[in-house]
Amino acid sequence: MLQTNYVGQQIRTFESTDSTNVRAMEWAESGGPSGAVVVADSQTAGRGRLGRRWEGGEGESLLFSVIVRPDVPDASMGLLPLASGLAVVDAVTPLVRHELALKWPNDVLLAGMKCAGVLVEGVRSADSRWAVVGIGINVNQEVMPRALEQTAISLRQSAAAVIPRPVLLASLLEALESRLHQLEHDRVTLLDDYRAALSGFGRTISLRLADGKTVRGRLAGVLGSGALEMEVGGTLRQFSAGDVSLGSERWVAS
Ligand code: BTN
Repeated sequence: MLQTNYVGQQIRTFESTDSTNVRAMEWAESGGPSGAVVVADSQTAGRGRLGRRWEGGEGESLLFSVIVRPDVPDASMGLLPLASGLAVVDAVTPLVRHELALKWPNDVLLAGMKCAGVLVEGVRSADSRWAVVGIGINVNQEVMPRALEQTAISLRQSAAAVIPRPVLLASLLEALESRLHQLEHDRVTLLDDYRAALSGFGRTISLRLADGKTVRGRLAGVLGSGALEMEVGGTLRQFSAGDVSLGSERWVAS
């Protein structure tokens, strides 16, 4: 069923674990190979970007992490989260009726609401470099919890039928292997594809930084390092992390 050369060729599954990213990082540290996958039905301490938690979705979400050891220059490693977000868009597009888009760096939006998040964590030392790509997707929820219903959506809410999670996982692993290949061999096309899927290009956005400060400006571009470029008060500035918002609840593809 799985048509990959290495991604997903080794899989560890858990009914419940704290975080698939944590399990995959332990595995990577003890020599887990590139492409090895950890998948769980539920997580008790799911990790999100910028130190946040990733909650819930027991039995209805797809929660998994992939060990990667990409052969790319350090300066391009910032493209890994972008490539991973694009892989989610690739795999989900045939399944849903509404438009998919990416919110920098890698929130996946469906009909303007978040359906998936990606957290890349990694290690670089003199003798080892690896990363773990953690992906959480709201798949079969009929309705989202009340606290999230204005901002989050499941694939089921835009799909004709229930989506079998093992089938979706296989498509995602295939898409990820193909985007990882692009990351290693054709970063120009990867960036072009990313920019085409990006929401908010040319628009005024707000970027909340890790220190809580907010920068407002025009989304001018995404660089080869994966950084966001914004025009702020007539000056171009680059940011490598942060939380983008348009100032309205919903995002639409530009
Ligand atoms: C975000 O949008 O903040 C990123 C969320 C990433 C969540 C996934 S769920 C599977 C993997 N394990 C984790 O602990 N986090 C990621």
